[in-house]
Amino acid sequence: MTDLRRVGVLTSGGDAPGMNACVRAIARTLIADEVEVTGIRRGYAGLIDGDFVEMDGQSVSNIVQKGGTILKCTRSKRFYTEDGRAQAAQALKRAEIDALVVIGGDGTLAGARLLSKEHSVAVVGCPATIDNDLFGTDETIGFDTALNTAIENIDRIRDTADAHDRLFLVEVMGADSGFIALNCAIGGGAELVLLPEFHTDIDHIKQRIHSLMAAQARSSIVVVAEGDDLGGAPEIATALKEDPAFDHIDLRVCILGHTQRGGAPSARDRVLASRLGTGAVKALLDGITDVMVGVIANEVRYTPLSSVVGGRKSINYDLLKLAQMLS
Ligand code: F6P
Repeated sequence: MTDLRRVGVLTSGGDAPGMNACVRAIARTLIADEVEVTGIRRGYAGLIDGDFVEMDGQSVSNIVQKGGTILKCTRSKRFYTEDGRAQAAQALKRAEIDALVVIGGDGTLAGARLLSKEHSVAVVGCPATIDNDLFGTDETIGFDTALNTAIENIDRIRDTADAHDRLFLVEVMGADSGFIALNCAIGGGAELVLLPEFHTDIDHIKQRIHSLMAAQARSSIVVVAEGDDLGGAPEIATALKEDPAFDHIDLRVCILGHTQRGGAPSARDRVLASRLGTGAVKALLDGITDVMVGVIANEVRYTPLSSVVGGRKSINYDLLKLAQMLS
């Protein structure tokens, strides 16, 4: 955009490690191009309320290594309504913000698409969600850190499982997608992995676990994505315990939950977030809007928000076979 004078930046949806590194890259790239930066606090809720803060180079010092988001984030119900989005567009106009960079997952990008469609707001999205379930980028900001956190915890669980010859059902995040589950099953050497993408056949699981535990008389770890169709690890544990064949199996459930969302971003997430943040600003400076910036095969790429929002990134079947083969 030739007459870009002020750009707003917000983080929205679930936080993801590396969001701060992305905010920093956006702010510093804009400042280098003499464009002013407005931080929008609390995501779309803050946009509607005009909860804005002026940012300079110093505002983003000492944050590249921090988890969470200095701008804070929410899942705004008001923004789901046409009226809420109209208020948001008005707030942008009042603050003389020419364009918006949003950092978040599918809900955040869907919101950005509606702002662009209904109110012609110039928007660019940066993909950030630990779930890694966005079309248009090989990886999302936060995924690598969450995966490392999950694997580190699985390693710890393995020690205690092994000491007691126990079966552990470890639940990881992923309400609709199994990217974390599948990758940490491989990296953590799990004996079985259950993903939201596939139907969970409890009889098959019983057979598999029983033969593992009986034949090898050792511990086992089953990684369960929270969106598994039986409802997650506690539900599977209940189903297993109802079966007398499991009476002699010492079973425990461990839900890793929001530990996966916190913590310092990994080196890989910091670099990815920095590339995406700068890529988003470059798009705006080149007049490219209504897109999400991603990294595909190590190249920065732009995908129309319409394809990102409607699209679905599917599980890598080779990885699934690998997980099964190595377990
Ligand atoms: O979108 C990321 C995610 O971590 C999902 O895996 C999970 O289901 C959801 O967020 C939980 O979010 P919250 O507790 O913030 O509502």
